[in-house]
Amino acid sequence: MKLWGGRFTKPTNELVDAYTSSIGFDQKLAKYDIQGSLAHVAMLGQCGIISQDDAGVIADGLKQVLNKIQAGEATLSEADEDIHMNVERLLIEHIGPVGGKLHTGRSRNDQVALDMRLYLREAIVDIIGLLGAVQTALTKQAKQHLDTILPGYTHLQRAQPVLFGHHMMAYAYMLQRDVERLQDSWKRVNKMPLGAGALAGTTFPIDRQFVAKQLHFDDITENSLDSVSDRDFVVEFLSAASLISMHLSRLSEELVQWSSAEFNFIELDDAFSTGSSMMPQKKNPDVAELVRGKSGRVFGHLMGMLTTLKGLPLAYNKDMQEDKEGMFDTVETLKGALGLFAPMIETMHVKQDNMYQAVRNDFSNATDLADYLVEKGMAFRESHAVVGHAVLYSIEQGKYLLDLKLEELQQFSDLIEEDIYQALAPETVVAARNIPGGTAKERVQEQVDNIEALLAAN
Ligand code: ARG
Repeated sequence: MKLWGGRFTKPTNELVDAYTSSIGFDQKLAKYDIQGSLAHVAMLGQCGIISQDDAGVIADGLKQVLNKIQAGEATLSEADEDIHMNVERLLIEHIGPVGGKLHTGRSRNDQVALDMRLYLREAIVDIIGLLGAVQTALTKQAKQHLDTILPGYTHLQRAQPVLFGHHMMAYAYMLQRDVERLQDSWKRVNKMPLGAGALAGTTFPIDRQFVAKQLHFDDITENSLDSVSDRDFVVEFLSAASLISMHLSRLSEELVQWSSAEFNFIELDDAFSTGSSMMPQKKNPDVAELVRGKSGRVFGHLMGMLTTLKGLPLAYNKDMQEDKEGMFDTVETLKGALGLFAPMIETMHVKQDNMYQAVRNDFSNATDLADYLVEKGMAFRESHAVVGHAVLYSIEQGKYLLDLKLEELQQFSDLIEEDIYQALAPETVVAARNIPGGTAKERVQEQVDNIEALLAAN
């Protein structure tokens, strides 16, 4: 008979058990469920709602049930629907009818809300740590490449040269915002919902703050109806996770491009690349591709959760059981990607000379010729047109600006002098962007210092 079987006259259809049960996936919550129950039962004893002796027996029993589950020795059944009822059933099997006192003043509705928060708290801490490791790897590469120049792109057309360190730090800052978003979500995740009961609270004189303190929550939730129907914290997490996935996907795309023969800017370490079953020469950036690809499922989980929630009346509805798989999958997907990214970035070989050639053999110093003329007194709009003509002339000659003789350059403006060659050299062009946030070496060094300080504080 089911734990709630009293008002029923026959057993549930097997198809219903199979369809409605969540034990197949929510057994991941066993540890958190029992952690929550231990705090709850301690409170019941403390408040004299059950005897301290019973509370002690139940707590011991719960610990043994957890050991059994973790050792794979417990039989979890679909008929018991979910992790909450499976644990209660195992507890009663283990310690007898006194186990039936555990659920006093509690409902699965506030229980599952608590479990989700406990799970997510741990996941957030782990993910912030993993983000930090990727930021550290990016910063290490940046420090090694404060003199490595590559073309910066807009429209995927070579635009202006930048330091490779600057490019790495752009991603470090994206991930910093991701860390801060997760940190900010903490104050909403870290509230304790137990005590909301099924929806309206409980008649027992429970001490919600006691439970909150035991479980290291900052505070208790304020409204029982909201407590059992709120999954905003899941949506918020999935949304932060989607941004992380999007950032990783953009970086992945660059790694894939840069590893191609067409760019030939980097080589990923053999340990982080894969081969082809047919083409012996292949070395593929599979990890980066798969991280890019898996962003799709994370975005999907966010949309799925929002859609599940959008029409639900207060308070708990069974629909809400759909909050779990997407969240678990998102946590595991992110952990997998971030765990690989740190060593993959750290071991990536940067082909400095090829990057430099891509800058040298192009027109990404054209803005600097225009700026040069402005400094000599020409209006920018005019210098833009003058340089446009010089670029067109160079293309026709099969040359780049730095290959033109002084006389050739002077056809476009007599303001151009011998110092133009120095002004258009890639090193000068980069060093000239010496404003806060710019690509000049000391500015990138400032970014490195700033991220390192933030990493120490995260
Ligand atoms: N397995 C359920 C879930 O994940 C637990 C809460 C069930 N509550 C209920 N009244 N059926 O949402």
